[in-house]
Amino acid sequence: MTDIETPYRELNLSTVADFAVPFLAERPIRAQEIGDGNLNRVFRVSSSSDSVVVKQALPYLKAAGESWPLTRHRARIECEALLQHGKLAPGLVASVLHFEDPLSVLVLEDLHEYQNWRDATIAGNDLSGVAALVGQYSAAVLVGTVGAHLTGPERAEMRSRFSYSALCLVTEELIFTAPFVNAESNRYDVEITDLVTALYKDRSLRMAAAELRFNFRTRNEALLHGDLHTGSVLARPNDIRIIDPEFAFFGPVGFDPGVLLGNLAMSRLAHQAADREHAASVIDTAARDYWQAFADEAARRWSATEPWFARFLARVLADAARFAGMEMIRRIVGLAHVRDIDSLPPTARFRAQESSLAGGRALVLGGRCPSFDDLWQRATQEETFA
Ligand SMILES: Nc1ncnc2c1ncn2[C@@H]1O[C@H](COP(=O)(O)OP(=O)(O)O)[C@@H](O)[C@H]1O
Ligand SMILES: [Mg+2]
Repeated sequence: MTDIETPYRELNLSTVADFAVPFLAERPIRAQEIGDGNLNRVFRVSSSSDSVVVKQALPYLKAAGESWPLTRHRARIECEALLQHGKLAPGLVASVLHFEDPLSVLVLEDLHEYQNWRDATIAGNDLSGVAALVGQYSAAVLVGTVGAHLTGPERAEMRSRFSYSALCLVTEELIFTAPFVNAESNRYDVEITDLVTALYKDRSLRMAAAELRFNFRTRNEALLHGDLHTGSVLARPNDIRIIDPEFAFFGPVGFDPGVLLGNLAMSRLAHQAADREHAASVIDTAARDYWQAFADEAARRWSATEPWFARFLARVLADAARFAGMEMIRRIVGLAHVRDIDSLPPTARFRAQESSLAGGRALVLGGRCPSFDDLWQRATQEETFA
């Protein structure tokens, strides 16, 4: 599959068409860029009868300028995670058509008939069955890779393939460190400066973040997606494909559900701040469906030789709550924001930002979260800082 003679070069709109020739039924007639190009370039190349998606890892993180080098090895991680997760959750993960290591390029089936779930949630579209399918995916891949369910050699092999990589250090920095110190990479609206200054001074929050970073580093429980926000789901009614697991690694099971629920909570808060009640209730249902499907599918897949499922699930929920809190804070003050909130007009935006920080804080510092209802209430109450 790989040609070690091929040196790395960045593909562009004119070269990507030639590159895609072997994967198309007829000659390419059109190439377009469909990604935002911060970390990777994502192209769609079409012939008159079919199309493919070509995703190339860039050797740096563009949002931070070319000064933040980022290993291209993540293209291999993404490819291997798509294959591994695809085996565990057949039909729920995007198919890889080809991988070219020297160019850090993946060729993927073109899912043009699907909608990005973040776009759907922002638009208030109720895509039936989608949240439950994402819950099934999470349970299939997380419970399917917990150590107790693999043989010793399988476990060792998988852990070495998905080791704690440079990408994990990026996640550590962006989620657990930068938002709590005055890091250069942080970005926030000047209007919420007082809230951010209070955050930097909050010692209990900074300690909790450091403890969660420690969990993230050390609890290598299962093969995570590593960046399971709503934009990593392509969806249509009763059908999903998961994309973009370039941050996959062995980590705490609660991390993926936490990131997903944190993103749904921010979507809820955005609708709430904009007085879009129906859209807000669509998100409430989605969050509940995700967790219920996760719990049901996890129970189904849990090994009978491990008679402590209820305690496992309670621990995943409590961890998910705290990781959701981290996500809701870093998306307001850190480098990467969510469009759900950033696209709001100013007054609604500041309200949603304040609520997200308050919800994040309640999740992280509010003690062990006992139930989904408690998690969701802490995350989405429109409480402001005293
Ligand atoms: N296989 C695919 N089919 C159709 N669209 C895709 C596919 N993969 C990615 N996309 C689109 O391109 C966007 C960027 O892809 P993504 O893998 O998330 O890149 P990045 O890691 O750079 O964020 C996605 O939000 C999605 O809309
Ligand atoms: Mg990505």
